[in-house]
Amino acid sequence: MSTDARPSAARSKFQEAKELKEEDKLYRYDGVLYPRLMCPEGHMKALKDFEAREDDVMLVAYPKCGFNWMVGVLRKIIAEAKGVKVDSKMPPLIEFFEPDVMKAMNEAPPPRLLGTHVHLDNMPASFRAKKTKMLVIFRNPKDTAVSFYHFSNNNPVLPSGQSWDAFFSDFMRGDVPWGSYFDHALAWEKRMDDPDVMVVTYEDLKEDLSGGVRQISTFFGFSLTEAQVQQIAEASTFSAMKQSSSNSHGNMGNVFFRKGEVGDWKNHFTPKQSQEMDDAFNKHLAGTRLGAKLNYQVHCK
Ligand code: A3P
Repeated sequence: MSTDARPSAARSKFQEAKELKEEDKLYRYDGVLYPRLMCPEGHMKALKDFEAREDDVMLVAYPKCGFNWMVGVLRKIIAEAKGVKVDSKMPPLIEFFEPDVMKAMNEAPPPRLLGTHVHLDNMPASFRAKKTKMLVIFRNPKDTAVSFYHFSNNNPVLPSGQSWDAFFSDFMRGDVPWGSYFDHALAWEKRMDDPDVMVVTYEDLKEDLSGGVRQISTFFGFSLTEAQVQQIAEASTFSAMKQSSSNSHGNMGNVFFRKGEVGDWKNHFTPKQSQEMDDAFNKHLAGTRLGAKLNYQVHCK
C-alpha cells in the first residue's frame, strides 16, 4: 500500500523550517493554530473533500496522546492480518497530505491506514457518511501537556524556546497546534456510544498492550491468532519502538519516542499548575464517560 513514503520531503520541511521565524511557524485556520509548513491553508481547505472509504483504518488523536504508537500497532495488525506491508516512513495524517499524496491515496488499495489530529467537527464529512471505523486514543491531560511541551521544543516545524510555564499557559488556553485538548475530548464524549468509534487510553494500553491489540484488531474486523497478538504487543512496547525509531522516524526517532511513561507530569507541574488542570478537568470532563475512562484520580493526583 502506498502512503507518503517521503523522508526527503520531511527533511526539506525541516530545511524550510530553519528559514521561518519562530513566530511564523504557526498560523490560525478557523481560529485554531496549525503548523504552517505541515498543514498550510490549502491542505485544510482540501480536507472537506477528502473521500473516506468504509474499509479505511482511521486513527484519531489529539497531539501527543500516542498517535505514533497506534500507527505502529495498526501497521503491524494490517501486515499480519492482510499480508500487506504499510509504509512506515511518514505519519499518515490526512492534513499533511500534499496534493500529489492525496491523489495517490485516492488510488491506494484497501485497507488504507489514515489518521488525523484535527478536531472531530473539522474532520471530512465522508468519514461519518461511510461509517468508517475510527480508533481514538486519549491520554491524561497532564502527561499530554508535558509531552507536547518537549515535542514543540524539539520539532523544527513547531515554535521552540518556550519555557514550561509559558507552554502550560498556552495549552490551558488551547493556544497550541490543533487547539484545545478539552474541546477535542468533549467532542468525542458525544460519540462514546457510536459503534464505529473505539476510544482507548494511553494509560490502559500501558497496562495491558496485548489486550489492547486484541480489541483493536477485533474492532477493525481483522482476525489474528493469539500468537500474532502477542508478537505485535511485544514489538510495540516503548523500548521496542524506540529502538526501531531511526528506521521509522529517521532523525526524529528520539523526539517522537521520548520517555513513554505515565506520570512524567510530576517532574514538571507546580502545585498551582496541577490545581489549575484539576479544575479544568472537573469543569469539562468530570462525570463524563470519557472522563471516567481517563481515570484522572489515579493518573493525575
Ligand atoms: P512522551 O513525550 O511522554 O514520552 P504522539 O505519537 O501522539 O506524538 O505521542 C507521543 C508520545 O507517545 C510520547 O510521549 C512517546 O514517547 C509516547 N510513545 C510512543 N510510542 C510509545 C509506546 N510504544 N509506548 C508508550 N508510549 C509511547
